[in-house]
Amino acid sequence: MTSSPKIAIITYSMYGHINILAESIQKGIQDKGGIADIYRIEETLPLEILQQLHAPAPPEDLPVATVNILTKYDGFLFGIPTRFGTVPSQWSAFWDATGSLWSEGALYGKPAGMFVSTASPGGGQETTVRNSLSYLVHHGLIYVPMGYKTTFGDLANVNEVHGGSPWGSGTISCNDGSRLPSDLELRMAKTQGSDFYAIVLKLNSTTNSSDVKQEPKEKGKETKVTTTTSTSKKDSKTKHASATADKGKPNSPVNVAPEKSKTGLTKCCTIM
Ligand SMILES: Cc1cc2nc3c(=O)[nH]c(=O)nc-3n(C[C@H](O)[C@H](O)[C@H](O)COP(=O)(O)O)c2cc1C
Repeated sequence: MTSSPKIAIITYSMYGHINILAESIQKGIQDKGGIADIYRIEETLPLEILQQLHAPAPPEDLPVATVNILTKYDGFLFGIPTRFGTVPSQWSAFWDATGSLWSEGALYGKPAGMFVSTASPGGGQETTVRNSLSYLVHHGLIYVPMGYKTTFGDLANVNEVHGGSPWGSGTISCNDGSRLPSDLELRMAKTQGSDFYAIVLKLNSTTNSSDVKQEPKEKGKETKVTTTTSTSKKDSKTKHASATADKGKPNSPVNVAPEKSKTGLTKCCTIM
């Protein structure tokens, strides 16, 4: 694994709330010296339906998350606006296109976290993340919750309305989309970015460290310690890259230049 891991923040955001959180998450990662690029999941709904939903055009300056970018990153934070307490069809469609990565185990062992947006406090702040876990599990991605460790004060704050849960940071958009992420929610999102990055670094250092194998002690003999350098993850990535190259598929190895990323925000709009 590389010494400076790269994180992809992958969002679907019809009205822009998730993308605002994504920027705070990105700041949290960058503040810790990390690299984080924001991508958007492609729209799949017909124009007629989007017009009925008063959906603005997606931000053109955010690159579209193709399946192939997944192999270029060491960790992922997914931004999900809830649909009926679960993931949007656009998000499912993105994962439905990852069959080849799934069958190759290309994402196995990479860490991933989630952040959400709902119209109301009980609308799916927790269930949306929970319902998204099946995708992670089948790919062998490691779910990294936000937890309470550094967010207890904000999560347990009952003096103001806010999104977020130990499952991941979040915002509440209101049913007409008029509420923008609050300072508290943005702070939590930033913290999630920093904390997630710390976990990614930990996983990296574990993978890069030497494996110390202790052979069983035989009666009357000294304990024998064998040290081997672990390159398992790096090797598997290299192997994966060459294997896919053989098949003529465009998956790339780890060290590729990051695509330029910028959030173009649509601050708010109505869904009613
Ligand atoms: C079809 C549809 C279903 C929705 N279902 C829920 C829901 O179950 N609970 C809820 O709180 N909000 C629900 N919402 C509101 C969205 O979650 C809200 O618009 C979104 O979180 C805003 O995030 P965005 O600005 O990033 O798109 C729904 C919206 C649509 C269009």
